[in-house]
Amino acid sequence: MSVLITGGAGFIGSHVADKAIEAGHSIAVVDNLSTGNRANVNRRARFYRLDICSPRLEGIFKKEKPEVVIHHAAQINVRHSVKEPAFDAKVNIIGSLNILECARKTGVRKVIYASSGGARYGEPEYLPCDELHPVSPICHYGVSKHTVEHYLYLYRHLYGLDYTILAYANVYGPRQDPKGEAGVVSIFISRLASGEQAVIFGSGRQTRDFVYVGDVADANILAMRKRTRSRYFNIGTNCETSVNQIYREIASAMKSGLKPIHAPSVPGEIRRIRLDIRPAARELGWKPMTGLREGVGKTVAWYIDAHKNGMRAGGRR
Ligand SMILES: NC(=O)c1ccc[n+]([C@@H]2O[C@H](COP(=O)([O-])OP(=O)(O)OC[C@H]3O[C@@H](n4cnc5c(N)ncnc54)[C@H](O)[C@@H]3O)[C@@H](O)[C@H]2O)c1
Repeated sequence: MSVLITGGAGFIGSHVADKAIEAGHSIAVVDNLSTGNRANVNRRARFYRLDICSPRLEGIFKKEKPEVVIHHAAQINVRHSVKEPAFDAKVNIIGSLNILECARKTGVRKVIYASSGGARYGEPEYLPCDELHPVSPICHYGVSKHTVEHYLYLYRHLYGLDYTILAYANVYGPRQDPKGEAGVVSIFISRLASGEQAVIFGSGRQTRDFVYVGDVADANILAMRKRTRSRYFNIGTNCETSVNQIYREIASAMKSGLKPIHAPSVPGEIRRIRLDIRPAARELGWKPMTGLREGVGKTVAWYIDAHKNGMRAGGRR
């Protein structure tokens, strides 16, 4: 199958590209390298360095004629979205709209969209959050990511463009950039690797649903070919792990005795979350295969290896 992956030089998109190539698909990657890394792009993928907002995107769609588009390119920084809401909306909404227009004009069959299960619900009213939970994002990023879900519905309604929304929990694993704000696992690993204390905002009792990037990539591969009744799936583990707990896992995997520093909590940060993943199991035949200890172990091993070899942590291994 011919597949175009946006954001395929980034953390999650590059794993999706690797798995799709392994499965025998023909892959083109579009990425402007704003946070991604050229070294992440699979050598067997055709790479186009381009902004998803560019009018030149249509030319790439015409040349590549993708059957499926997997859309991961985004402005992912929550604090940046609050500081520069127009820029966040430009990339996440207008950029996505450009992709949908190109898809409609060039006969793409299906779009798979990476949404955010962590940002769309706000502070949960009940747990686990399922697809019926009210959508009340409390940051600009959450609004911009969710807005695209409406456009996907509209494009199917108007033009018959099929789609699947995969709403991710907190994804972690190799190639996550510790300089970003979202990846607490990679941030803690990078601090401890350089002998510095990690900072935990608030008490550390706030919980997250941590899902391993390899499992997330598998969900994308399944969504490419499965016909499902639902078009929205949460992709997580349905397990709550506190930030203190994830810190202890990482410190233990790295054999570090360093104690974390506690700083004031971040205003607007949600207290608890875990996602209901039963529809993904039922309809996509997907479930997370990597336990937290195993996933943290793999991420630590990758980080140490990447640094030993003098590579940027974003690099390919
Ligand atoms: N990491 C998570 O825990 C998580 C959780 C929920 C949803 N998501 C979603 O998954 C997707 C991938 O996130 P990630 O963590 O891999 O982030 P990432 O920053 O590693 O990847 C995003 C990629 O998109 C590229 N990009 C950004 N703006 C672009 C633009 N205007 N034009 C072209 N390319 C552009 C970047 O260079 C980067 O390679 C995003 O859509 C994000 O919203 C991630």
